[in-house]
Amino acid sequence: MGEKITLSVIKADVGSLAGHHMPHPDQLAAATKVLAEAKRKGLIIDFHVTHVGDDIQLIMTHKKGPDHPDIHGLAWQAFQEATKVAKELGLYAAGQDLLSEAFSGNVRGLGPGVAEIEFEERPSEPVITFHADKTEPGAFNLPMFKIFADPFNTAGLVIDPRMHEGFEFEIFDVFEGKAVRMKAPEEIYDILALIGTPGRYVIRKVFRRSDGLQAAVVSIERLNLIAGKYVGKDDPVAIVRAQHGLPAVGEILEAFAFPHLVAGWMRGSHHGPLMPVPQRYARITRFDGPPRIIALGWQIKNGRLIGPADLFDDVAFDETRRLAQFITEYMRRHGPFMPHRLGPEEMEYTTLPQVLEKLKDRFKKVAEAPKGVHKEKSEML
Ligand code: F6R
Ligand code: MG
Ligand code: MG
Repeated sequence: MGEKITLSVIKADVGSLAGHHMPHPDQLAAATKVLAEAKRKGLIIDFHVTHVGDDIQLIMTHKKGPDHPDIHGLAWQAFQEATKVAKELGLYAAGQDLLSEAFSGNVRGLGPGVAEIEFEERPSEPVITFHADKTEPGAFNLPMFKIFADPFNTAGLVIDPRMHEGFEFEIFDVFEGKAVRMKAPEEIYDILALIGTPGRYVIRKVFRRSDGLQAAVVSIERLNLIAGKYVGKDDPVAIVRAQHGLPAVGEILEAFAFPHLVAGWMRGSHHGPLMPVPQRYARITRFDGPPRIIALGWQIKNGRLIGPADLFDDVAFDETRRLAQFITEYMRRHGPFMPHRLGPEEMEYTTLPQVLEKLKDRFKKVAEAPKGVHKEKSEML
């Protein structure tokens, strides 16, 4: 049995250039310097620093396991250095995701998003890291379900004996802080009953049932809930292991060929299509979007990160992007109307209470209103 390697993807928005567009290269350089020093000292084996939209992405390998204070402390330090640069250059929203001044051993719950997975390296270990901007962790529900439970997406579920028993999903309730494990294919209707509400029930981990091997992990931070107020959308990251008895790289990417509607986009308060893009287009423009995702392909060898391959940089995704533009146009035409604008309970901020307060004396009972409309308190604030 080989030694265990941990792959940690930790991301944060600590300020950016031209509004919420993208980090400044000097911020990436500052974060890189911190991680390079940690690699030299042997704390981490390897690393890669990149960005998607305004989020800095730290991809690291090490032997310390998930949730380790040294690794989380390192990420915190990298984000602090990038924040210093943001402050010096007067970048926008400098340090926005570093919710606490004092680091206390773990970045979970402080602001940064985290996806970590520990595994024994297979003789060849292909892994994809996904990084999205202007959306939420539940945006991965639909593609993760397709990858690990939908035989129309993943042929291996039907024809690869190592996957034929199916996968187990750990689904996290972001409001209650509780998780439940559910089995596919037997429980797929119940699974869908939960994950069809992606703002609340989020696929967090996926395991192969034949041997319990962990195949995927998604970050579950929801910044708005952590802070108790709007502090920026909780742009998610995910890790998916591929091949050799797991979904093939092509089966994993296939799940993103449909640009499904996700919550996020402008002011974290709108539905829009999730557009898969190459790294060079990983910066938001139109209406601060549309929401974007990149896929980086790696081989991990003795903890070394070999790659990345920029997996959505291919004409095979041109039609997906074109459809996403079409949907962008269609959704934008709704302006301030739902379902383009999120429902009141999902919006990051709203002026509705002030508007209602201002109008409270002007709202009059209507005598001829049909029965049943005079609820004590409207559920549809
Ligand atoms: C959404 C996001 C942006 C901002 C918008 C307004 O996650 O980051 O869409 O919400 O640009 O930003 P402020 O209020 O900072 O001017
Ligand atoms: Mg931002
Ligand atoms: Mg962002």
